[in-house]
Amino acid sequence: MVSQRADKLEKEILKLRKERNAIILSHNYQRGEVQDIADFVGDSLELSQKAAKTDADVIVFCGVHFMAETAAILNPDKTVLLPDISAGCPMANMITADQLRQQKQKMPGATVVTYINSTAAVKAESDYCCTSANGVKIVGSIDNPEIIFVPDQYLGDFIARMTGKTLTLWPGYCPTHMRILPEDIINRRQEHPKARTVVHPECRPDVIALADEALSTSGMIRYAAREDVSELIVGTEVEILHRLNKENPGKQFYAASKKAVCPNMKKITLDKILEALGTMAPEVKVPEEIRVCAKRAVDRMLEMR
Ligand code: 13P
Ligand code: SF4
Repeated sequence: MVSQRADKLEKEILKLRKERNAIILSHNYQRGEVQDIADFVGDSLELSQKAAKTDADVIVFCGVHFMAETAAILNPDKTVLLPDISAGCPMANMITADQLRQQKQKMPGATVVTYINSTAAVKAESDYCCTSANGVKIVGSIDNPEIIFVPDQYLGDFIARMTGKTLTLWPGYCPTHMRILPEDIINRRQEHPKARTVVHPECRPDVIALADEALSTSGMIRYAAREDVSELIVGTEVEILHRLNKENPGKQFYAASKKAVCPNMKKITLDKILEALGTMAPEVKVPEEIRVCAKRAVDRMLEMR
């Protein structure tokens, strides 16, 4: 019965998607059934690249608020729908534009690099935007000894170590990745001695230190596809296992911690996607004066290959 209902929902969504000339974008942490219905599933960088290029009239963003906002920053003439408007990112709310302005006043010569997990108003105060996939490259390319990095202290710390640069960090963090502890990695490695370990750079430094690689979510997808990888311990939000299992039959994937669940990512459901396409709401819009400034930082990121 459940699958019959999902089947019906899926058909209705696909019909409306066509009528509205919409594209459905999904982050790698979305529910399996949402990933399965999407036109494209990816990490934050791939999703913003996709949003920048699409010729659809409507973007249905299956992710959290800052992701839909980034799509709206890039596409002022399109309708960007976030099927549950309360799907936010707690880390993005750990710094306000006012707080960043105060930090900039303390360091007037500094370059500001802002993780994409941030509000449009904070991006508007920034020189560069970055994601976990390109942060090392972007920071590495900046020729200024003074760099402010916000809001993720752990991604910032990882980038500082990888580039050898000193960054002024903001004390933000991801509550979901904070649930992954060093003992989780130690225990999973004992249970699966042949497995490699990848973790997200939003994890604590003592967790990253125990892993073979720290990668963005799509970086993990690529790593898992390698011929020499048959078993993998994965230190990030648990739903990534849906895509890993789907794309790699015969390989074994283990969540580093089953507690690493992002409740906001789970707020998007097939029902809400259908409703959003039917009502063309909730829509995410960015005030023009903020959008134009935020777009500068996002464009600088997208231009860097
Ligand atoms: P990426 O998919 O860009 O690695 O981001 C992870 C994340 O926490 C998104 O909120
Ligand atoms: Fe934000 Fe963490 Fe959820 Fe990503 S996983 S949306 S960083 S709370």
